[in-house]
Amino acid sequence: MPTIDLDGVSLYYTDEGMGEPVVLIHGFPLSLEMWTPQRAALSADYRVIALDLRGSGRSDPPHHELSIGAYADDAVALMDALGIGQATVGGLSMGGYVLMALLRRHPERVSGVILMATKATADTASGKQGRDDMIALARSDGAAAIAEKMLPRMLTSRTRSEDPGLVDFVRSMMASTSVEGIVGALGAMRDRPDSTSTLEGVLVPSLVIGGGADEIAPPAETEAMQRAIPGAEFALIPDAAHLLNLEQPEATNRAILDFMGRTVQR
Ligand code: MLT
Repeated sequence: MPTIDLDGVSLYYTDEGMGEPVVLIHGFPLSLEMWTPQRAALSADYRVIALDLRGSGRSDPPHHELSIGAYADDAVALMDALGIGQATVGGLSMGGYVLMALLRRHPERVSGVILMATKATADTASGKQGRDDMIALARSDGAAAIAEKMLPRMLTSRTRSEDPGLVDFVRSMMASTSVEGIVGALGAMRDRPDSTSTLEGVLVPSLVIGGGADEIAPPAETEAMQRAIPGAEFALIPDAAHLLNLEQPEATNRAILDFMGRTVQR
């Protein structure tokens, strides 16, 4: 099982395929398993690295308070360990927040940007209160309660009624996240800054992908991100809620592969 050790915390990752590197950063409260369809499709042409953030998937729970910036530093530490100077980086939702922190903290490491089902805006006051309520729920009732609460917004009602296999896959990924990881990620998301000015300074090829039925990162937010990034491209996946890459894997893979085919030098 490939891992790197960062300050006594073991981080799990996958490294598949050959060619120009692409690093994938998962959302909350998920793991690199959410990238299963993208890892399979992209690794035919590219070196695909995915990591489990601290406290998620098979990585160790955090020892210290988490922040979105610290997650970004972990992604760079993994790139260092693998000898990767620059990569196209893709992040979905919380993974997008991490990618935007990467663009602030280590812009020279990012050669292309793929922001999926995410938003540049910070949490509102009621959003921050919602994070604190979720932290209390995780502490009192555990990860399974968080999974049940989030599921209706992760997948469209059609997917939830017609694709029980995908529902079980997403539910069990969420329910197996550690409580420390959930609490840490919720605090990190609550305290993240607005990233609009970060996006305005992006100088590398960028793609924003939004789900037409996403309530967490609705089209108004994803379209605003595209407008903020100079020259960014936009792909709207119509029949998808938040986990657009799992609900519509072919359309998502096509958007990513078309973008990379045009922008990545091989
Ligand atoms: C995620 O999918 O990463 C989270 O739902 C994002 C958020 O809650 O802001």
